[in-house]
Amino acid sequence: MGTQGKLSARERLQILLDPESLVETGVLGHHRATAFGMQRVEAPGDGVITGYGRLAGRTVCVAAEDFAVMGGSIGEMHAGKVSRILELALRLGVPFIQLNESGGARIQEGVVALDRLSEIFRQNTLASGVIPQISVVFGPAAGGAVYSPALTDFTVMTRSACMFVTGPDVIRTVTHEEVSFEDLGGGEVHNRQSGVAHFLADDDRQAIALVRELLGYLPDNNASEPPAVASGEPPRPDEALRDLIPRDHTRAYDIKQVIARVSDAGQFLEIQAHFAPNVVVGFARLRGRPVGVVANQPRVMAGTLDVDASDKAARFVRTCDAFNLPLVTLVDIPGYLPGTDQEHRGLIRHGAKLLYAYAEASVPKLTVILRKAVGGGYIAMSSRGLGADYVLALPDAEVAVLGAEGAANILLKNGQATPEDREAFLREYREELAHPYHAARRGVVDDVIDASEIRPRLIAALEGLRGKTVDRPVKKHGNIPL
Ligand code: HXC
Repeated sequence: MGTQGKLSARERLQILLDPESLVETGVLGHHRATAFGMQRVEAPGDGVITGYGRLAGRTVCVAAEDFAVMGGSIGEMHAGKVSRILELALRLGVPFIQLNESGGARIQEGVVALDRLSEIFRQNTLASGVIPQISVVFGPAAGGAVYSPALTDFTVMTRSACMFVTGPDVIRTVTHEEVSFEDLGGGEVHNRQSGVAHFLADDDRQAIALVRELLGYLPDNNASEPPAVASGEPPRPDEALRDLIPRDHTRAYDIKQVIARVSDAGQFLEIQAHFAPNVVVGFARLRGRPVGVVANQPRVMAGTLDVDASDKAARFVRTCDAFNLPLVTLVDIPGYLPGTDQEHRGLIRHGAKLLYAYAEASVPKLTVILRKAVGGGYIAMSSRGLGADYVLALPDAEVAVLGAEGAANILLKNGQATPEDREAFLREYREELAHPYHAARRGVVDDVIDASEIRPRLIAALEGLRGKTVDRPVKKHGNIPL
C-alpha cells in the first residue's frame, strides 16, 4: 500500500463537498471503553467525520473515516455515527457517500463493535435501491470494513487502497501462503479480478473527482429522475457508424467507439472497465438525459457472455432500474461462452441473473442489434421477450437460434450430408432465418435501420417512453439467482 497523493479525512471532505457546506454531526462523539488502556486513548470524533453538505449544489450525507485515529477502527460510537447519518440520508432521500480507510471492527471493544458494525450493514441494506450509496476506499479496509462498501452501489479504490476479509498474517497461519497486501486485495486485484471495485483511481483527488462525475448521472433517490442537462446535443445522423461496425461478422471492433459516437459529446462513464471487459457497461447521456448503456465488446472474447460478464451486466441493469435510468443495450453477441470451465463455474445461474435483471427492470428498455444476436445471447441482451420496449436492428444483423454453420451441423447430422446439400441448407438458412427482416416480420424487432440513424432513433424512442409504467404482481421480493 503506497502513500502517494494521500490526504487526510478532512481534506478529502473539503475536496468532495462544495466549499463551507459541511454540517458536521456527532462532532464530540467518543468511545467509552476502558479496558486495555483505552481510558487514556483520545479519539477525536471516534475516528470518523460524519455530516451532510452540498455536492454540485445537491444535498448529500457523508462519512469519512480518519485512519489517524486508532486506524479508523470501527467501535460503538464510530459505527453509531455512521448508522445515524445513513439513516438521515434515507429520511432526506439524498445520496450517501462514505470515504473509507479502516482496520475494521475495533478489537478492544469486543462484540459491541461487531454489533454496531452490523447496524451499518443493515442501514446500507435498507437504503439499497432507495438512495444512491457510493464508497471510496483510500487505504486499508480490513475485515468488517469491507462489507459496507460491498453493500453500496459503487466502490472506488485508489492505488493505495487494499480490501480484504482476512489479512496476510491470518492467511500465512491458516494456509501457509505468503501474499502482500497489494497482491491480496489491492486496487488492481479488485478492479480486474474479483469485481469488488467499480473504479480504480490513481490517487485520492482522482477518486473524489470520479464520485462527483458519477453522481452527475444519479438521482437523489428512487422517486426522482436522474439529472438531465439542458445542453444535450441534438440528434444527428452519423455516417461514421457505418464504417465503425464491420459488415464482416468475423472482424473485431471496439464497441466503445460506437458508444462514444451515439452518446452526447462522446462522453461515456465506464463502470468496471477492467473487470469482464467482454461486456461494457456505463453511463452516457442522450440529448441531455442520463441512460445506462450495456454492450457486448467484440474485441474481447468475441463479445460472448461468461460468468463474470453476466454478473457485471446484471448488477448494472439492476442499478439503472433502481435509479430510473433508461437502459440502452447494444447487441453483438455470438452466445454464452462455451466450455467446461464456464459450465462448472455456474454459467447457468450466473447467466440467469442477466435474464432476471432485464426481465425485472421496469425502466424504458431500448435495444439495438448491431451484428449478431444469436441463441441465448439474443435472449439475454434485452430481447423483446424479456420486455424490451423498442428493438432496432441493422440491415446486416444476424438474428437466429444458431449461426448458419452450427445449425447445419445439427440438422444435417454432421458429415452425413453431401457438400451440395450443405450448401443448399446454408443458403436457405441465411435467406429464411438469419437476418433481421425475419425478426422484424415476427414482431421481435420493431424496425431495421441504417447504422447512421442509431442515435436519432434512440433519442426519439426514449422521448416517447417517458412515464412508462409496469404492473407487477405483489410479492415480498423476488429471488434472483446468485
Ligand atoms: C483496533 C486497530 C485496528 C482494529 C488497526 N488498529 N486496526 N485498532 N482495532 N481493528 C490500530 C493499530 O493498532 C495502530 O494503532 C493503528 O490502528 C494503525 O495501524 P497499523 O497496524 O500501525 O497500520 P498499518 O501498518 O498501516 O496497517 C493497517 C492494517 C493493520 C493493515 C489495517 O492495522 C491491520 O491488519 N489491522 C487489523 C485488521 C483486521 O484484522 N481487522 C479485522 C478486525 S475483526 P497505534 O496505536 O499503534 O497507532 C473485524 C470483524 C470482521 O473487522 C467481520 C466480518 C464481517
